[in-house]
Amino acid sequence: MVGGGQLARMTHEAGIPLGIRFKLLSDTPTDSAAQVVGDVVVGDYRDLETLRAFARGCDVITFDHEHVPLEHLRALEADGIAVRPGPAALRYAQDKGAMRERLTALGAPCPRHRIVADAADVVAFAEEGDGFPVILKTVRGGYDGKGVWFVRSEADAAEPFKAGVPVLAEEKVDFVRELAANVVRSPHGQAVAYPVVESRQVDGVCDTVIAPAPALAEELAGEAQELALRIADELGVVGHLAVELFETRDGRILVNELAMRPHNSGHWTMDGAVTSQFANHVRAVLDLPLGDPRPRATWTVMANVLGGDYPDMYSAYLHCMARDPQLKIHMYGKDVKPGRKVGHVNTYGDDLDDVLERASHAAGYLRGTIVE
Ligand SMILES: Nc1ncnc2c1ncn2[C@@H]1O[C@H](COP(=O)(O)OP(=O)(O)OP(=O)(O)O)[C@@H](O)[C@H]1O
Ligand SMILES: [Mg+2]
Repeated sequence: MVGGGQLARMTHEAGIPLGIRFKLLSDTPTDSAAQVVGDVVVGDYRDLETLRAFARGCDVITFDHEHVPLEHLRALEADGIAVRPGPAALRYAQDKGAMRERLTALGAPCPRHRIVADAADVVAFAEEGDGFPVILKTVRGGYDGKGVWFVRSEADAAEPFKAGVPVLAEEKVDFVRELAANVVRSPHGQAVAYPVVESRQVDGVCDTVIAPAPALAEELAGEAQELALRIADELGVVGHLAVELFETRDGRILVNELAMRPHNSGHWTMDGAVTSQFANHVRAVLDLPLGDPRPRATWTVMANVLGGDYPDMYSAYLHCMARDPQLKIHMYGKDVKPGRKVGHVNTYGDDLDDVLERASHAAGYLRGTIVE
C-alpha cells in the first residue's frame, strides 16, 4: 500500500486475519501505518524509482491516498504490476475537473459547474446562475475542505487562483444534508453496496456519520446505490469507491465528489457491518469474492476524534469505556494537534438518539471538550 496514513493502518489490520503480507511505502517511519506494519519502506511516492523499487515483489499495489502521479502508475502497469484502482480510474478521483466532465457525460447528476480562468470569470459564472455565493475548488490537492472556498464576491474570488492549479466553480448547492454511497468492486466485476449514510461536516471536516441515513426515502437510497455501482463500473474502479452526495431540498441527489480508497464515511463498517470497507477493499484488490456489506445493527454512528488541548487521550479511555461498554475506539497513533483527525469511535444500537449521544460524548470526552 502506498501511503502511511490511518487508512493504510486500518487496511493492514483487515488483512491480518487473512494472512496477507502487507508492505507499506510511507513518507516517514512514524506515519500512522508505519508504526504497525512490519515491512515498511520509507520513501517519496512522487519519485518513480522509489515506487518501482517498492513495487518489486508485490502482487498488487493499492493506495491510502489519491496523490500518486498517474504517469508513475502507468509506468508500474507497463512493468507488469497490478495497480488497483488503476490510473484510468484514479484520474477521476485526482482531478475534480475531469471528474465533473466524466460524470456529466455519464448522466450523473452534478451541481452546475465549469472551469474558471480568473476572478472576472467567476463573476460571469455566478451571473449565469443565481449569482453569489459560489463554490471554488482547486481541481487537485484538496482534502478536509482545504482547497474549497465559499466565495461571496469578486474580491473573495482571487485567492483560489494563487496556487496555480486550475479552479473549478460550482453553484452553492442548497442541500439538506450530505450523504455517501459506498461501494466496493473487484476486477471480476463483482460489486457490493453499503447502506447509504448521512455524513455531517463541521468546518469542512467530517464529524459524524450515521448508518443508514435516517429517514432517507427508500427510492432515493436505491438510486444513490445504483448510481455509485454504475460509476464504479463505468470508471473501472477496483476497491472501495465513496460517492459523496448532496441531498437537495426537493428530494434529489447530486454528486459532490469521488474517493477511490477506503473513506471516512465508511469507518462505521468496522463495527457496524458484516464486512468492513477495509476487509472488502483488501478482498477486491486481491480479486477475492467480496463480503456481505449489510449492517449488523439498526443504527451505527461513527464520530471522528479530533485533537484537542491534551496530548494524551489514553487517560480518557477509563471514563469512555466505563460509561459505554459497547463503544469501539479506533485511534490512529497520530500526534494530537488541535483539529487534527486522530481517531474515531463507533457506537450502535436500536435508539438513534441514544447512539448519537454516546458517540458524540465519547468523541468529545477524548478530545477534552466534554469533561464529565
Ligand atoms: N457545490 C457545493 N455546494 C455546497 N457545498 C459544497 C459544494 N462543494 C463542496 N461543498 C462543501 O464543502 C465540503 C468539502 O468539499 P469537497 O468534498 O469537494 O472537498 P475536499 O476537501 O476534497 O473533501 P474532503 O473533506 O472529503 O477531503 C463538502 O463536504 C460540502 O460540505
Ligand atoms: Mg469531500
